[in-house]
Amino acid sequence: MNAAAEGSEGTPLLEVSEVTLRFGGVTALSNVSFDVREGELFSIIGPNGAGKTSIFNCLNAVYRPQEGHIRLDGVELIGKRPSTTANMGVARTFQNLALFRNLDVIDNLMLGRHHLMRTGFLKGMLWAGWAKREEIRNRVRCDEIAETLKLTPYRRMPVGILPYGVQKRIEIGRALAMEPRLLLLDEPVAGMNLDESEDMARAICQINGELGVTMILVEHDMHLVMDIADRVLALDFGVPIALGPADAIRNDPRVIEAYLGQLSDVEPHDIAPHSLEPTDMEPSDMEPRP
Ligand SMILES: Nc1ncnc2c1ncn2[C@@H]1O[C@H](COP(=O)(O)OP(=O)(O)OP(=O)(O)O)[C@@H](O)[C@H]1O
Ligand SMILES: [Mg+2]
Repeated sequence: MNAAAEGSEGTPLLEVSEVTLRFGGVTALSNVSFDVREGELFSIIGPNGAGKTSIFNCLNAVYRPQEGHIRLDGVELIGKRPSTTANMGVARTFQNLALFRNLDVIDNLMLGRHHLMRTGFLKGMLWAGWAKREEIRNRVRCDEIAETLKLTPYRRMPVGILPYGVQKRIEIGRALAMEPRLLLLDEPVAGMNLDESEDMARAICQINGELGVTMILVEHDMHLVMDIADRVLALDFGVPIALGPADAIRNDPRVIEAYLGQLSDVEPHDIAPHSLEPTDMEPSDMEPRP
């Protein structure tokens, strides 16, 4: 947690209250409530199908819950368009990579800044000088983000040829380029080897601790979550089963049971609840894949 979060107990940036989301007969989220404080590194855990990605899809208005409220700085997000939530500062990465493979790293990051740029095609023609300066300012910012995420050596390479772990960092870079107030990371270390995971953990801590970005981390890697999250919400079948500091959640019997069934003598981190390979497109991943 960064200093901002420590000093801001009780002033949530995000408030999720009594959210219920149904798909026909399936209740993906059932009466889910939590808040995230300014500067906090909050984590959501739960077995496959628990509703983690569905929460992200509600936060960025891809899904519209039937009940409840989601407020960012007091402003209701339910009913807004995804582009509006992006303009309000909600940025996310996806469980499956969503990058433009033929574009280079910096151009992928620049796409994250699209909504911050005032120059459209026509204005760009008319005010070439001003538009050029805006373009340069944004490219400089993308270079800084690339540096933070240790992407500088790859900056002019097409994303498609880069290793998986690097591509996952680029996705975070694209979200960071949106200058978010709330960054949602959906399984950032899935499919990574140990070195790549450690690099990613460092990057996440740096973004939260040094840049002060409030984050929600969805992750199956319990070591990572317990190491870096301030507070954790555990879900099972869309129902919140525990919420609190990482240490308390690690030992919560309901969390252990949700992950392990009756095998409660096994530590939560001893299981790999899903394949380490990136999976096929899932119904909840509504994002376009370039
Ligand atoms: N668009 C959709 N249409 C129908 N059902 C959906 C849709 N999106 C999600 N669901 C259902 O909602 C439930 C929660 O799915 P979700 O993808 O949020 O789980 P998750 O916790 O992210 O799982 P995982 O760890 O496997 O990524 C599942 O039963 C899923 O099948
Ligand atoms: Mg998911």
